[in-house]
Formats: sequence, C-alpha cells, structure tokens
Amino acid sequence: MQVIETTRALQARADRARTAGRRIALVPTMGALHAGHFTLISEARKRADPVFVSIFVNPTQFNEASDFDQYPRVLEDDLARCREAGVDAVFAPPVAELYPDGATTWVDVEGLTEPLCGASRPGHFRGVTTVVAKLLVAARPHVAVFGEKDFQQLAVVRRMARDLGFDVEIVGVPTVREPDGLALSSRNEHLGPEARGQATALVRALDAAEQAAAEGERDRDRLLAGVREVLAGAPLAEIDYAELRDAETLELAPAGLAGPTVLALAVRFPARHGGDPVRLIDNRVILRPGTKAVAEARKEER
Ligand code: PAF
Repeated sequence: MQVIETTRALQARADRARTAGRRIALVPTMGALHAGHFTLISEARKRADPVFVSIFVNPTQFNEASDFDQYPRVLEDDLARCREAGVDAVFAPPVAELYPDGATTWVDVEGLTEPLCGASRPGHFRGVTTVVAKLLVAARPHVAVFGEKDFQQLAVVRRMARDLGFDVEIVGVPTVREPDGLALSSRNEHLGPEARGQATALVRALDAAEQAAAEGERDRDRLLAGVREVLAGAPLAEIDYAELRDAETLELAPAGLAGPTVLALAVRFPARHGGDPVRLIDNRVILRPGTKAVAEARKEER
C-alpha cells in the first residue's frame, strides 16, 4: 500500500491507473477509522480497483479550534488497518499541501448548506466542499464513497459535483450501527458511560417516527412531538435540531407530509472528561417519493 503526501504524486498514481483502463474509487475520511469507514471501503472495492483512501483532518470544516485540536489522530493505526483491508493507496497530506500559504479559494454550495448542520455550524460545509473538491482533483476518481449518516453532507457533495461538472459518481452507503443502534462515529468515544447509554435516544426517536409514518401519520408537528418525547427520555440530551425536511431539496417539510421526507437529528451530550459537549447526528428517510412510508415499502419488498 502506497502512502502519498502530495497532490502531484496522487495525480500521477491516478493517471497511471486511468491509462491502464482502471476504475478508481476514493473514500474521503478524517481518519480515526472505524467499522463504518471499512464499510465504505468495501463498497468502494466492489465498484473499483484501485481504491484510494484519504486521511486528512480538515481544519476549515471545524467551527471550534478546540474541536479540531481534540479530533482523534491515529495515523499509524489507520494505515495498518487500511493495509489489512487491501486499500491500494492512502493520501495523507500535511495541511500546507491542501491549503498552501495564502490560499483564498473556496467552494461554496448555496441553499442546501443553510439549514440543519449549516445553521448550527456556520462555514462548516464551505470547508467540506472545498476540501472534497481538492481531493477529487488530486485523486481523479470515477467513484467517491460517503456515509449516509452525514445526510446533508452527501446531498451537498452531490450538488457540488454536479454543479462543477466533476466526472465522478457520488455513492452513499447506509449508516453502520452499534448492536444497540447508535450510529458509529469517531465522536462516540468522547461520551461518558451515562451519556453513551442515553445516546440510543437518537435511533429510538428515528424508529418511533418511522413506525408512526408506517402507521399512516402524516402530520409533521405530531411526528416531531413524538420525536421530542423520545429524546426527552434522555435527560442528558440537549437537542440542537430535530427536523423533518424534504429528502431531496432539504426544504422544511410541509405541515401535512406529502413527499420524500427525512427526519434529521443533532443532539449534544456531555463529554466524558468535561470537555466540549459531543454533538451526535443521525437521520432516517421516513417517506419515499409518492409518500409511501419507508417501513411499509420495506415490508412489501420482503
Ligand atoms: O465526512 C468526513 O469525514 C469529512 O467531512 C470529509 C468528507 C472527509 C471531508 O473532510
């Protein structure tokens, strides 16, 4: 497995693969790899060869310097696990490689980036789209694989790739969960035992909303009241947002749900050692186009 630190060297590696008629996949990550990332890597492997993984803790997508500083960095472990997983090359550039001194160029997707995480983390998505654009330029992939846990990020990256004409297929992979349903995230390790126990409130709230939709509930406010009730059962949870939105445009869902609808949650829990609170996100598409409840549709498919 090659470890590459410069854009030029990765582009050269990509060019060789392309000249040989190979299909390249990129899995962008910030490292601290967990089972969720390895699901993305397996998906990439099904679709392409070679598979490149980028490991870069992107400073421009963090709102708080302390969050950036505390972000786990375990490059040697990550490299060993990528080697085991059969990754062909890891791109792990220093910050100055992607943000040379005096860099003033940004990629900014309007509209989709305004609600949800965009509202509570101003500038976050500008950092994400800027770095993902740089990674796509460096790796020249045919396919780039992202987790559906970051539902808004996936929508924003898809829009960016389309608007800028990147010739890449953006693939979303379903969220990987702990046995008790908590979505895997490198942030989970900052939760203390009590908060970790209560953090399953997110998936329980998603389940409750999905179930209610399957039973025919289409009233937005009643669905959200049910979600808040479940979250209220976790006294350590502080809701950042709990919203029903159009699953494609991310516009606020109408009072009577009438199209593809996603329930998006962001909830803060106290950190283990009293540091900044840990912000967890999760989501579920509860209605598909045609307003069929996802749970109903799944039953019919069985
Ligand atoms: O999802 C992430 O880990 C990051 O936002 C990404 C896509 C690697 C960009 O830094």
